[in-house]
Amino acid sequence: AQNERESLFITLNYAKDHFVSNLWESEEGRNIGLTYFKERSFSEETIKTFELGYALDQWQGLMDASAKKGYNETYLARAGLKIVKEDKAYDRFRGRVTFPIHNVSGKVIAFGARTLKSNEKGPKYLNSPETELYTKSKILYGIFQAKNEIRNQANCYLVEGYTDVISLYQGGIKNVVASSGTSLTEDQIKLIKRYTENVTVLFDGDKAGIKASMRGIDMMLSGGLNVKAVRFPEGEDPDSYSKQLGGTAFKAYLDENSLDFISFKTELYITGTNDPIKRAEAIREIVHSISLIPDPIKRTVYVQQCSNKLGIEEGTLISELNKLLIKES
Ligand code: UTP
Ligand code: MN
Ligand code: MN
Ligand code: MN
Ligand code: MN
Repeated sequence: AQNERESLFITLNYAKDHFVSNLWESEEGRNIGLTYFKERSFSEETIKTFELGYALDQWQGLMDASAKKGYNETYLARAGLKIVKEDKAYDRFRGRVTFPIHNVSGKVIAFGARTLKSNEKGPKYLNSPETELYTKSKILYGIFQAKNEIRNQANCYLVEGYTDVISLYQGGIKNVVASSGTSLTEDQIKLIKRYTENVTVLFDGDKAGIKASMRGIDMMLSGGLNVKAVRFPEGEDPDSYSKQLGGTAFKAYLDENSLDFISFKTELYITGTNDPIKRAEAIREIVHSISLIPDPIKRTVYVQQCSNKLGIEEGTLISELNKLLIKES
């Protein structure tokens, strides 16, 4: 089984090299893929760091190339690179730019692949299926490139997308990983905890992003992490906004707008409302989030902060909190 895994790793690494060489060396790759990345302001260095590539717009580009090199076809299918349907077999990734997904030790385990067509009928990003090597819920995109810097900075920025990771990294914010658009899992939280207890959530400034932030914050609090979050203007994500502001101003924006989870939730729920019912709901939601924190001392500190911020007596919050704690135990 160890040999089988090794063969899968080798196959995925070959596919990565193939896509990289398409991007830099083929006419189609340069004209379409490389041009696309450059239009997104990714530097050549960045493209190389993340091993970005291009899958030719052919049914069997990778299959043919790997057959020529003598690779066993069954591993292509098991690695998620080949689709076998009835009597047909073809490449999964075609006519898309490729983003290899690395495990913690830097081996390629899967790909995300973005369409370049404005009239694409399929998904914007097509991803590898789950395989023997790739379990989506256990990995964070960018963790290999980010892990040392997460430790050094004692903080991890969490974004939604591949391109958010890449843009921030290029702008000098290297302690960044992506959940890849899915809701955060316990395994991903454990992965972050190997490197730091501090997370700053930078999700997209749309309804989906805010909803995902709220849920992600609660999950991370339960996992014992210290959580901050930053909100972006409607329609912006960390990639687009960092390009709009430029690196220096973007860093300043993050520093000025990183809110601890209480302030973040408070701002979202009750800024601009005096509606007492909305205030009460917000307080209940925040107390619920506090109740998820495993450390009683941290809970106490957050209760004090919530009391100050919302002008509610600590005693009231504590008795509400205790009700929740009893319910949960
Ligand atoms: P977004 O839709 O926010 O994409 O999805 P994005 O990263 O900003 O994409 P660009 O800027 O248009 O290139 C966030 C993440 O969700 C996953 C991807 O990981 C993406 O980076 N996703 C999104 C998919 O897996 N499939 C999709 O069809 C869309
Ligand atoms: Mn989004
Ligand atoms: Mn986005
Ligand atoms: Mn984007
Ligand atoms: Mn909740």
